[in-house]
Amino acid sequence: MSFTPVKLAVLVASVREGRFGPVVARWFVDQVDRHGEFEVDLIDLADAELPLALPATSPRLDPDPVRPDGMRDLTARLDAADAFVVVTPDYNRSYPAALKTAIDWHFTQWDAKAIGFVGYSGASGGLLAIEHLRQIFTELNAHTVRDYVSFPRYYLLFDENGELREPAEPAAAASAMLDQLLWWSRALSAARATPALS
Ligand SMILES: Cc1cc2nc3c(=O)[nH]c(=O)nc-3n(C[C@H](O)[C@H](O)[C@H](O)COP(=O)(O)O)c2cc1C
Repeated sequence: MSFTPVKLAVLVASVREGRFGPVVARWFVDQVDRHGEFEVDLIDLADAELPLALPATSPRLDPDPVRPDGMRDLTARLDAADAFVVVTPDYNRSYPAALKTAIDWHFTQWDAKAIGFVGYSGASGGLLAIEHLRQIFTELNAHTVRDYVSFPRYYLLFDENGELREPAEPAAAASAMLDQLLWWSRALSAARATPALS
């Protein structure tokens, strides 16, 4: 049986000046290309307009609120995705505020979709952000996959050219996570085609 590629959006969650996030995201996009079952869309949240002031009505009740012009491209790309991988650092034991804003401005875009994570930071390797994000995506009726990639003290793991000094273990972790994401995103695509009970 042949399948069409799953549309996977890879989100760069950190938007600060001098961030390391794009290096990790580029590495991960290479892993996705190598895996071969996904059509990848790399989304940098730094390119989106993300006002902290949310619409008057929750996107749960009004799933298509008036959004700023600078958010339209992001919304369309989140809509189009079948699955997501969030590339996130730990900021004070959690994830960047820009990501929370992007999440909260949307609702149906996450609904019944599979989500994986790639974390990096100091000692905690993005895992504290990842665990918080699992709770949030549960509220959005998304499914987060068990396996993840984590880079604790990433600055010791990547060289000055942004290449991993020892790539084998992270590549295996990415491959395992992508296998799970593929299974779940195909299962959830089929499930989205059937009517929900409520
Ligand atoms: C506001 C802030 C809070 C941070 N908190 C943590 C933390 O709780 N745990 C950790 O391991 N690293 C922490 N770090 C280190 C970051 O993970 C590290 O600077 C990383 O490069 C941030 O990702 P970015 O460069 O893509 O923005 C923090 C960094 C910042 C700027």
